[in-house]
Amino acid sequence: MTRSAFDYVDGVLHAEGVSAVSLAEQFGTPLYVYSRAALTDAWNAYAGACVGRRASVHVAVKANSNLAVLNVFARLGAGFDIVSGGELARVLAAGGKAENTVFSGVGKHADEMRDALAAGVKCFNVESIPELDRLNAVAAEMGKKAPVSLRVNPDVDAKTHPYISTGLKSNKFGVAFEDARATYQAAAAMANLDVIGIDCHIGSQITEVAPYLDAVDKVLELVEQIEQDGVKIRHIDVGGGLGITYDDETPPEIGEFVRTVLDRIEARGHGHREVYFEPGRSLVGNAGVLLTRVEFLKPGAEKNFAIVDAAMTDLARPAMYEAYHAIDPVVERNLPAHVYDVVGPVCESGDWLGRERLLAVEPGDLLAIRSAGAYGFVMSSNYNTRPRAAEVMVDGTQAHVVRAREEVRQLFAGETILPA
Ligand code: LLP
Repeated sequence: MTRSAFDYVDGVLHAEGVSAVSLAEQFGTPLYVYSRAALTDAWNAYAGACVGRRASVHVAVKANSNLAVLNVFARLGAGFDIVSGGELARVLAAGGKAENTVFSGVGKHADEMRDALAAGVKCFNVESIPELDRLNAVAAEMGKKAPVSLRVNPDVDAKTHPYISTGLKSNKFGVAFEDARATYQAAAAMANLDVIGIDCHIGSQITEVAPYLDAVDKVLELVEQIEQDGVKIRHIDVGGGLGITYDDETPPEIGEFVRTVLDRIEARGHGHREVYFEPGRSLVGNAGVLLTRVEFLKPGAEKNFAIVDAAMTDLARPAMYEAYHAIDPVVERNLPAHVYDVVGPVCESGDWLGRERLLAVEPGDLLAIRSAGAYGFVMSSNYNTRPRAAEVMVDGTQAHVVRAREEVRQLFAGETILPA
């Protein structure tokens, strides 16, 4: 996805047709800003490549679960991929349909299974025999049959950050490849399960197609064996994970990625099966920026710091994964540029947003932290009793607050002191 929804007009960064300066003035900072057009374009790239194919796209809610974001996708006919009862509630509140929703995750609670079964989700992506047992028991209690797919672990190296690589043997995810056939047999023997598919997810921020094709090849091999054993597989869920450009990465175009995966599945003689995709980052990542204001410039013996009003509490990715996010001044200025570490006000050395960035800024200036639409707000916290940022969605020349800025009193509203 390009960053074109966020571009300069006469030296001022705009979100679609709205100046980022006016957004910051109107709504304050730190401020998440999303572009409806960018969300729509990314969705259309996936959906367009699926036209005429047996394929469907399920938005990974975890990447950005704001109701307005989910609703933009729901209006476009999206399916959803959830990992909790909370995410199911959001999908339903945003106008998504349970029957287009798949439920992933390694540790589903019985209550979450019950709610998802009652709502009528499309499929449970199950990761272990104890989870099969639990789902079978819940379904029996409710007099229902739960639709099930097993997440298998194809043991391929997605060549991404170890914290976001999930398809290796050493990860906690999925059923080990060599146990898959036996696990399918176990699932098929459970009276209240209806085995319908297979799924995998090899990691996130993957910028090449090759690891996907490796995973697909291994999964198809398994599908053939499982069917020989008498269990029918109707769909193959290839997971999410296509990467985006944060810096100089060059992932394939979404459409090219989708077509390459579908072509491989067809070429291997499995074109009659439905293929599911579960993208998150590539749908929302470059559809959002985080606006922040420079509080102080602090020259140091070894480093200069630009202390801003956003922090690791707003965008955790740099602190957690040493992730790179481009940082640009909102107003292009004719000042001497200096190298700064862009850091937040939180009392942790890990509270940084960008390191060694050449910036022409003064205190009070606004900065835009790019590519913040995925795993940004959703991973934010209230550490240091910091209210979470507001979220705004721009649609053409209109800006809509889609989540109000938190207020401090909300943060301890549920707390009580001991009786006197
Ligand atoms: N499906 C499953 C089962 C997943 O676990 C994930 C992401 C996705 C789909 C969506 O993957 P995507 O298309 O967004 O790569 N917080 C980390 C990323 C964690 C991804 C976890 N799973 C980050 O900020 O980079």
